[in-house]
Amino acid sequence: MCGIIGYVGGRKASEILYKGIRTLEYRGYDSVGMAIDTQKGIEVRKDKGSVDEVAAAMQFTSMDGSVGVSHSRWATHGVPCKENAHPHTDCTGKIAIVHNGVIENYQELGEALAKKGHKFSSETDSEIFAHMVEDEKKQGKDTFHAFLASLNKLKGSFAIALLAEGERRIYAARKNSPLVIGLGKGENFAASDMTAMLEHTKDFVPLGEMECAVLEPGGVKFYSLLDGKELKKTPMHVDWSPEMAEKGGYAHFMLKEIYDQKHFVYESLATDVSAANALISKSRDIHITACGTSYHAALMFKYLSSKYLGKTCDAVIASEYPFIASPDKDTLVIAISQSGETADTMKALEFAKEKGAKILALTNVVGSSITRVADEVVYLNSGPEVSVAATKTFTSQLAVVYKLLFPGNDFSEIPKIIADSLQKEVEIKKIAEMIKGKQDVFFIGRGLSVPIAMEGALKLKEISYIHAEAYPGGELKHGPLSLITEGVPVIALAPSDDSVYKMLGNIREVRARGGFVISLNNSSEIEKESNVSIKLSSVDPMLHPFAMVVPLQLLAYYVSVARGINPDRPRNLAKSVTVE
Ligand code: F6R
Repeated sequence: MCGIIGYVGGRKASEILYKGIRTLEYRGYDSVGMAIDTQKGIEVRKDKGSVDEVAAAMQFTSMDGSVGVSHSRWATHGVPCKENAHPHTDCTGKIAIVHNGVIENYQELGEALAKKGHKFSSETDSEIFAHMVEDEKKQGKDTFHAFLASLNKLKGSFAIALLAEGERRIYAARKNSPLVIGLGKGENFAASDMTAMLEHTKDFVPLGEMECAVLEPGGVKFYSLLDGKELKKTPMHVDWSPEMAEKGGYAHFMLKEIYDQKHFVYESLATDVSAANALISKSRDIHITACGTSYHAALMFKYLSSKYLGKTCDAVIASEYPFIASPDKDTLVIAISQSGETADTMKALEFAKEKGAKILALTNVVGSSITRVADEVVYLNSGPEVSVAATKTFTSQLAVVYKLLFPGNDFSEIPKIIADSLQKEVEIKKIAEMIKGKQDVFFIGRGLSVPIAMEGALKLKEISYIHAEAYPGGELKHGPLSLITEGVPVIALAPSDDSVYKMLGNIREVRARGGFVISLNNSSEIEKESNVSIKLSSVDPMLHPFAMVVPLQLLAYYVSVARGINPDRPRNLAKSVTVE
């Protein structure tokens, strides 16, 4: 879950890499480093801290040279510190590597290298790779063949970029971790995602599983890791602009992305889903699998399908899927993943595929891993999402879910519903002040509001660190009600639908125990019973989820900011979760 970028060309590599690694900082932000092949050999500068802090302290951009690699780390093996930061070098300092993923057999490989006299300077699983290549080279191989031979000994996952002194090349490879090659003119790039390269090129080749690439200024060659044979690749062109990945005047990416929703949801609603619809209508069973926020979109699929179409389907947390699901050749597995790289989701799909199921992927990232295992792909078209907390990709997922389930319906009202909800920003900021000091917050809803309550609770806990839980309203009396005491905030999602009177009952239950009710409603009855009320526009009840999710995103954002947290980078989390 780290960010990687490599550059080879005619320009000053350190400047390009510094900008690129800033864009990738959302992937990992505990330490940063850069290696440049300078006239005096490979120079490595790295330390614990944010990209800007380390770049300033280490003067990254004072390094001269036109080939290099950089890395932002999210620790898996070894604490965040200077020694464990990447790049790592071999014993001679002539090979530098950056790695994202987990090398599962690193201890065994490390012990064998240690016996041969290799000395390690970090606690990471990654460092051994530089020594492995060094070792293979000692046996007479050139760097390419040493790289290939070493990769074939690794178990686990990797996106790796390697720099060898004096070669003006970057060697890059992947297995179960994303790596995209960017094709420029007289220069080439490799990075964990396209956003880091958008300023320089819009032509990309995502590396496939067990593939590697050798980048030189004049061109890139692709190879299979299994047999070393050269591969032909067709680049794809992507229309995202670099501005789409910039903050555009907002204090944080998260706030920008919340506002982006009113535009990008148009794009998502315009997505062609006809081939996916055909797959859905042919399937006997449907399983939807995903993690985190994407799982809440999966639940919405399940709830909508059963409520409006009378068709039951299963929504299963991806990491649980192999343990509880029984797909077969008549099952369609719909995988929802904004990044398209989530390891848990990929594993669920591998399992489903082995059982003969068909796969439909909903993702935001063109060429991501999930698209390669899917029989059909629907792109969310939400533009790059940088903030760790998913916001606009969630509303895009919802828009696509609605299109898939109700192909004939007109959903042109949705962007306006989102825009109306955004108008609540000032009142939500005040509510954020009311709850910023609380220890626990509960979210309740019924029917279609349940997945949105779950999403509201997830968003709040992940970026404000306040404990937050969501329950179907009816469940309160079966246990959680004992936690409702004087002043405990309960956010009640109570729009005017067939559950509104039951929600009224739940609100009264909470008030009777001294709970502080903040309700989202469009009825005076609910408003009267609540301590604070956020009024929703009156829309088709089927579309209430769009009206409710935006205020909850804004609430999480403002509570986070009020508590002095950077909402774009919550502790312990990363944007693309490529480890199981
Ligand atoms: C929460 C969040 C995560 C992701 C989850 C799945 O704001 O972003 O819960 O939703 O890690 O990620 P994707 O959708 O990339 O598979």
